[in-house]
Amino acid sequence: MCGIVGYIGYRKAQDVILRGLGRLEYRGYDSAGAAILSGKKVKIIKKQGKLKILAAELSDNPIAGTIGIGHTRWATHGVPSDANAHPHSDCAGKIAVVHNGIIENYLDLKRELKKSGHRFISETDTEVIPHLIEKFYKGNLEEAVRNAVKMLKGSYAIAVIHEDEPSKVVGARCDSPLIVGVGKDENFLASDVPAILDYTHNVIYLDNHDIVVITKDGVTVKDMSGRIIRKKPSLINWDISQAEKSGYKHFMLKEIFEQGDVIEKIIDERIRDGRVRFDELKIKDADFKGIKNISIVACGTAYHAGLTGKYMLEEYAKVPCSVDTSSEFRYRNPIVNRDTLVIIVSQSGETADSLAALREAKKKGCRVLGICNVLGSSIAREAHGVIYTHAGPEIAVASTKAYTAQLATFYLITLHLAYIRKTVSAAGLKALIKEFKRCAGLMNDLLSEYKSDYNIIAAYAQEFKKYYHLKHNKSYFLYLARNINYPNALEGALKLKEISYISAEGYPAGEMKHGPIALIDENPWVVCIAAQSKTYDKMLSNIQEIKARGGILIAIVTEGDKEMVHHNVNYTIEIPPVDELFSPLLVVIPLQLMAYYVALEFGHDIDQPRNLAKSVTVE
Ligand code: AGP
Repeated sequence: MCGIVGYIGYRKAQDVILRGLGRLEYRGYDSAGAAILSGKKVKIIKKQGKLKILAAELSDNPIAGTIGIGHTRWATHGVPSDANAHPHSDCAGKIAVVHNGIIENYLDLKRELKKSGHRFISETDTEVIPHLIEKFYKGNLEEAVRNAVKMLKGSYAIAVIHEDEPSKVVGARCDSPLIVGVGKDENFLASDVPAILDYTHNVIYLDNHDIVVITKDGVTVKDMSGRIIRKKPSLINWDISQAEKSGYKHFMLKEIFEQGDVIEKIIDERIRDGRVRFDELKIKDADFKGIKNISIVACGTAYHAGLTGKYMLEEYAKVPCSVDTSSEFRYRNPIVNRDTLVIIVSQSGETADSLAALREAKKKGCRVLGICNVLGSSIAREAHGVIYTHAGPEIAVASTKAYTAQLATFYLITLHLAYIRKTVSAAGLKALIKEFKRCAGLMNDLLSEYKSDYNIIAAYAQEFKKYYHLKHNKSYFLYLARNINYPNALEGALKLKEISYISAEGYPAGEMKHGPIALIDENPWVVCIAAQSKTYDKMLSNIQEIKARGGILIAIVTEGDKEMVHHNVNYTIEIPPVDELFSPLLVVIPLQLMAYYVALEFGHDIDQPRNLAKSVTVE
C-alpha cells in the first residue's frame, strides 16, 4: 500500500527515485510523484496513473538535483488524481512529504489546521502532515517532524524534505515499513529493500517511533525524545536480479516457475541429519511440547496456506488447530491463552490485520510464531519467534511461490512437532521426509511440462475465453476439492479472481449439495481436484453430479488415472503420483497457471491487477 523512496547523495535524484519506485510499484500503482530539491527550491511533480507516466514527464522536463523523495500510490483517501498524488506540501510550498499508511485523525487535525489558516488542496489524509510540520517548524526539520508525528493517530512511514534545510531527508515510521539504505557518500530511505539494492546491500530496519535523518554522509536514528539509537546495518544476501523478470513475460510466471527450486532449497536448509532444524527460531522444543492447541491466523493466500497447515498438523502432530482470517481473529475475542501457539503467516510481514492479530494474541499471553518471507518485517520482529520462508522476493501481487514456501514451512513444523511430541514413529518420519524431498523434485518435473507458451493449460484458457464470449460473458469458475486440497480450491479461485476479474468460488466438494449445486448449468467451468486420495471416489460422484447438470469440467488427476476416462470430463490436467499429504504442492501449480493464462487471454495487467496491492498495510 504505497511505496516511498528518499535519496540524498551525488546521483541525479530523479533517476534514483524512478528506479526505486519501479521496484516498489507492486505496493500501489494508481499515481506516482516526486519532490526534488533543485537549486534552492522544492520542485514537485505528480501524475495520476502508472509510474511510466511520471517517468515520461520527467524525461521531457527533467529536474536537476541530488536530494529528493518519491511515492507510488494505492489510494485510500481520495480518488486517484494528480491532486491526491504524493508528495504533498505546506502552504509556503517549502516542505514536501511522501507517506505510506493512514492518518486516522486527519479530519480533526485538518479542521484545526484550517482554523489557523492552513490551506488544503487534496482529499488525502496525508496532507495534514506537511501542514503540521510547517506549524511546528522553527528552524529544525527533525524537531518539527517529531512534533508533527506526535499528533498523528494511525500508521505512517514518511519521508520529508524542506528547502530551508537542503542537506537532509528526514524519515519516521509507525506501523508502516521504512528502511534506510546505507551507501558511500549517499543514503536512501525506502519502504522495501528492492528499491535500494541497485546501490547498496547495507540496510537498517527502522522501528516504530524512530525518527531518522539521512545526509550525504551520515545516518542518525533517534527516538521520540531525541535520544540517539545505535543501529547496525544488516547485510542483504540476495541480489536485485532476483527481483527482475529474467526473460519471463511477467513476474507471476517467473515466480510460478521458481517454486520447485524454492521448495528444494527450503528442504536442504531445514532438514539436516533426518531432523528439521529451525536455526533462527527462538521458541524452544520444550515450549512446543507444552502446546495444547494451535491457532493459525493470516489473510488471503497466507490464510489458505494456514488452512492446509491445519490438516497436516492435526493429522500428524495431533494438535487441535483453528484457523482464522486476521481481521476476524482480532475482533472475535478468541479463546486462546498461554497454552496456545498462535502462528501468524504473512509473506510481507507487514499486513496490518495480521500485525494487529499478532498484538492481540500477545496481549492474551499466547506464544506467537511468525511465518514470514520478508526479512526484518514487522511481524517477524514482533513475534516471539520467526521462521523465514526464504522464497526470495515475490513481486507479482498474486502470490505463488510465497504460498508454496508457506506450505513447505507447515510441513516442516508438522514434522518437527511430530518428532518432539512423538506422534509419528522414527520410521514414519523418515518416510515422510523422503516423500517431501521427492515431491520438490516432482514440482520441477511438472513445471517443465509448461515451459512453452503452447501448453495445455494455455490452450484451455483460450477455450474458456471463446466459451465466455459464446455465453455472453456469463461463464465463471467453480473450484471443488476435499480434504487437504480443499484450501487449494479456495486458492485457485482467489488467483483467478484477482488477476482475471472473473467470478470464481472455491468450495469443499461435499458442500455442493447443500446449496451451490443450484448454480450449476452450462455456464460454470468447474475445476475438480481429483488427484489420488482417500476421498477420490467421492470426488468422482461429485463430477457425475456436475456433469448431469451441464457444467463444463476440468479434472486435475494423478498421472495414470484409469478411472477418469469413464467420467466424460471435458478437460484433464495431470499431476505426478505423490502421497496425498504433499499433493497440495503439486495441485496448486496448474491452478496458478490456469489463472495466469486466463488473465493473459483477457489481456489484463497480470503483475499489477486493479485495486490490489502487494502489501496491505491498511485495516
Ligand atoms: C494473494 O495473491 C494476495 N494478493 C493476498 O491475498 C495476500 O496473500 C494477502 O494480502 C496477505 O498478504 P501477506 O502474506 O503479505 O500478509
